[in-house]
Amino acid sequence: MYKYVIKGGNRLEGEISVSGAKNAAVAIVAATILCDEPCVLENVPDISDTAICAKILREMGASINYTNKNTIQIDTKNIKSPVVPYELARTMRASSYFLGTLLGRFHEAYVPMPGGCDLGDRPIDQHIKAFNCLGATDEIVSGTVHVKADDLIGCQIYFDINTVGGTINAIFAAVKAKGLTIIENAAKEPHIVDLANFLNSMGADIRGAGTDVIKVRGVERLKGITYAIIPDQIEAGTYMVAAAATKGNVLIKNVIPKHLESITINLRKMGVKVEEFDESVRVSVDGPIMKTNVKTMPHPGFPTDMQPQLSTLLTIAEGTSIVTDDIFDNRFRYVAELRKMGAEITVKDKVAIIQGVKCLKGAPVKATDLRAGAALVIAGLCAEGVTEIDDIYHIERGYESIEEKLSAVGADIKRMYFQPKETMAIGG
Ligand code: EPZ
Repeated sequence: MYKYVIKGGNRLEGEISVSGAKNAAVAIVAATILCDEPCVLENVPDISDTAICAKILREMGASINYTNKNTIQIDTKNIKSPVVPYELARTMRASSYFLGTLLGRFHEAYVPMPGGCDLGDRPIDQHIKAFNCLGATDEIVSGTVHVKADDLIGCQIYFDINTVGGTINAIFAAVKAKGLTIIENAAKEPHIVDLANFLNSMGADIRGAGTDVIKVRGVERLKGITYAIIPDQIEAGTYMVAAAATKGNVLIKNVIPKHLESITINLRKMGVKVEEFDESVRVSVDGPIMKTNVKTMPHPGFPTDMQPQLSTLLTIAEGTSIVTDDIFDNRFRYVAELRKMGAEITVKDKVAIIQGVKCLKGAPVKATDLRAGAALVIAGLCAEGVTEIDDIYHIERGYESIEEKLSAVGADIKRMYFQPKETMAIGG
């Protein structure tokens, strides 16, 4: 088992380069199933989620060659079966994308019910609604979702809620369907635009990605291409907040500032200086961190994936802040861990009231999911004393070389092995 040991109090100063976007990469790796020619993907983040997606494809018969840790050649022509291996797929939310891509290619798919961060109930009813609309039937047998269609016919899909995964899976199933599919109330995240750009570069006909109406006209086949994945807006935002929390001065490179707008606006409201350049932003602080109120929204609003990180910064702001995150059932599981570090936060339903304190104190804490873990890293960086973070596998699902990147700008963070103790079951 590994943990991060962080000695807080160092100001972060220097430059950090952001990796490719996790939530674009997992969709684009899955999308290669729709093409029977080799694709080369560049700027793929070296994280466990993308590695598992590639491993699933290899187990299904695809050839996977890493020319370096961020460049993968994928050829799925030898995949003959629409069955996704159970053990690997059930750990990740992104495995749901194999439903749409296998359905699009084979008109059938068997995929385990997806796993992923425990943020409360995460159904896939909207994904199934899109598949049904296109002509597929669905059933769940022993934890595996089975979808099947004699033919996929273009249709009008109206999502009842804003869903990133549902939008992506609707695109996957529609790309080679017969005729026109119109996806209404579509999600508009940057990774959806990146996926549409990837598919269109292969010969797909997808218009309107990034708006709430996406039109997909089915095509016969897609050709293999080389494609570079966009930078990760959430990784960038995480390092922006880390720079602010340590009152540092960091240039965060390889970003698309437009994708960071809602993060930049909120940090500026808190007294953080954010300078925007063509492909980088500089974050610095020369005064107190001020309170603010924020509500997470689908893109282009403030992203739910940045909520734990910003809330952590608010724990050391002057004044009382209110954070509302009703996109998921429960995205405040990290609060109990922050309280161990002296944070003063109360959570009621999907609202956190954060009373700023002078500073946090280092403590042993546990990552409960990917972004919660990132928030605890930020807390450890700005706390007095030493913080030990357990269950860091959550963090390493979505942050490439986080301890190297932070150490390079002055953080005292080490990834250490430890023998897990036998935990006693204590009643009560
Ligand atoms: C994607 O999850 C991301 N994951 C999440 O990032 C991100 O938090 C989320 O989008 C919102 O931006 C990946 O891209 C792999 P949703 P997804 O479908 O697609 C409900 C991270 O930290 N819903 O937009 O699962 C759902 O329960 C991860 O990188 C239904 O009810 O999110 C949630 O409450 C965490 N039925 C809300 O919609 C459905 O069929 C938004 O979910 C689908 C979703």
